[in-house]
Amino acid sequence: MLNNYEPIKVYKGNIVYSPSINRLTTLENGYIVVNKEEVIGTYQDLPAEYQNCELRDFGDRLILPGFVDLHFHAPQFANRGLGLDKELLPWLEEYTFPEESKFKDLSYAKKIYPQVVHALWKNGTTRSVIFASVHKDSTKLLLDLFIDSGLGAFVGKVNMDQNCPDFIVEDSNQSLSETLEIIQEYSKKSTLVQPILTPRFVPTCSIPLMEKLGAFAMDHNIHIQSHISENQGEVDWVKELHPESLDYASIYHQYGLFGHQPTIMAHCVFNTDQEIDLMAKSGVYAAHCPHANYNLASGIMPVRSFLEKGVSVGLGSDVGAGHQVSIPKVMTAAVQASKIKWLESGKTLEPLKLSEVFYLGTKGGGKFFGKVGSFEPAYAFDALVIDDQDLGTIDISLTERLERYLYIGDDRHILKRFVAGKEVFEPKKLPGI
Ligand code: GUN
Ligand code: FE
Repeated sequence: MLNNYEPIKVYKGNIVYSPSINRLTTLENGYIVVNKEEVIGTYQDLPAEYQNCELRDFGDRLILPGFVDLHFHAPQFANRGLGLDKELLPWLEEYTFPEESKFKDLSYAKKIYPQVVHALWKNGTTRSVIFASVHKDSTKLLLDLFIDSGLGAFVGKVNMDQNCPDFIVEDSNQSLSETLEIIQEYSKKSTLVQPILTPRFVPTCSIPLMEKLGAFAMDHNIHIQSHISENQGEVDWVKELHPESLDYASIYHQYGLFGHQPTIMAHCVFNTDQEIDLMAKSGVYAAHCPHANYNLASGIMPVRSFLEKGVSVGLGSDVGAGHQVSIPKVMTAAVQASKIKWLESGKTLEPLKLSEVFYLGTKGGGKFFGKVGSFEPAYAFDALVIDDQDLGTIDISLTERLERYLYIGDDRHILKRFVAGKEVFEPKKLPGI
C-alpha cells in the first residue's frame, strides 16, 4: 500500500506525445504517473494503486514532451538575425568567427551565456546539443550554467586548427589537451549535462586533430557532433582538401568520428545515397536545420530520403544561422521546407506531416539522450504544460490544438517545464542578479 511519502507523482491534463513517427497518442483528461525521474505510464483512468499519490491537475491545458534541439551554437546567440543575406563561408568569415572570438574573454561569456540558457528554458527546449566556441573557460562556464539550470544538454568545446582566421585558430596540441581537461572535469559531474566532442567541420580540422579526437571518443566513451554537406561551396572545398577521399562522410568515418560513438551531423543537404547508407549503418543522427538551410541559401535537406533509409533524424535551430530558438517554429519550417522539396523532386519525396516533425523535435532527437522525448514507460519525465486558451476555441481535437500551438503559439503559452521529473524554474539571465 502506498503512503504519503511515496515519491510517485501524478499529472493530469490533455496529454499528447509521439511514440513513433507514424503515431500520435492523445489522452483527454488523462494521467501521467511518474516515479522520481521516470514515467511509469499514461492512463485514461487512474489505476487504484496511484489514487493516494500527489496529484497535480493542469485542467484543460496540454501536457507535451519537452522539445529537443540537436544543433545550437551558443556563441552565435548575440548574432541572431545578422548577416543572413550571405552564404555559409562568407557568413562564417564576416560574422561568425569575429563574434565567436569574443568568447576568449570570460566576462563576455558571462554576459551572453546566461541569456542562452534562459532562452532555451523560455522556449521549452528541455534538452539541447550545443556547440560552444574554441575557448576552454567559456565552455566550462556554459557547462556550469546548464548544470545549475536543471536543463539537459551536451556541450562541446569546438576544435579547429586550420583554415580559419588567426584570431580564432587553435594550436592542435592545445586544442586536444583542453578538450581532454573538459572531458575529465565534466564527464562525471552531472547526469543531465555532458561534454561532447565538437570538431567544427572537415575544412577547419587537420587530419592529426581528427585522428586524435576519434581516439578520445573511444577512450572516453564520448559523444560526437559536427557539420556535413550543408552548402555546395563547402562540399567542393572538402573535395579539394581531401582528393583521396571517397566523399565527405568517409573522411569523418576514417578518423573514428562517424558513429564510432553516438554522433550527430548537422545539415545533410547534399549527401549522396552512399553517405546516407553509411549514416544509417553507423547509427549517425542527422540534425535537420530548416531555418539555417533557408537563411544561408544552402538548399533543403531531403529529410524523407534519410527517413526512408532508416537514419535517425532530429531537429536543430542552428542558432545563429537559424534565427529562432523555438523548436515549434523549426518544426513548422521543416514542414514548409519539405513541401518545396516535394515540388522540386517532381512530387517523389513525400512532404513531412506535422505529426512527423513533432516526433522529430521530441522523441526523434530525444533518442540521442537515451529514453527522452516521449511519455512511454521508463522515459525521463521531460514535459511542458501549455495554456493555449487565447489561441482560439479548445473545442477541437487535441491533435488540432497541438497543430495550432506549434504554428501560432509561442513561449508565452508555456506555463511549466519539467526535466527528468523535476520542475525547472526560470534561470537567471545575468550572473549575480
Ligand atoms: N559549418 C561550420 N561551422 C558552421 C556554423 O557555425 N554554422 C553553420 N550553419 N554551419 C557551419
Ligand atoms: Fe551549425
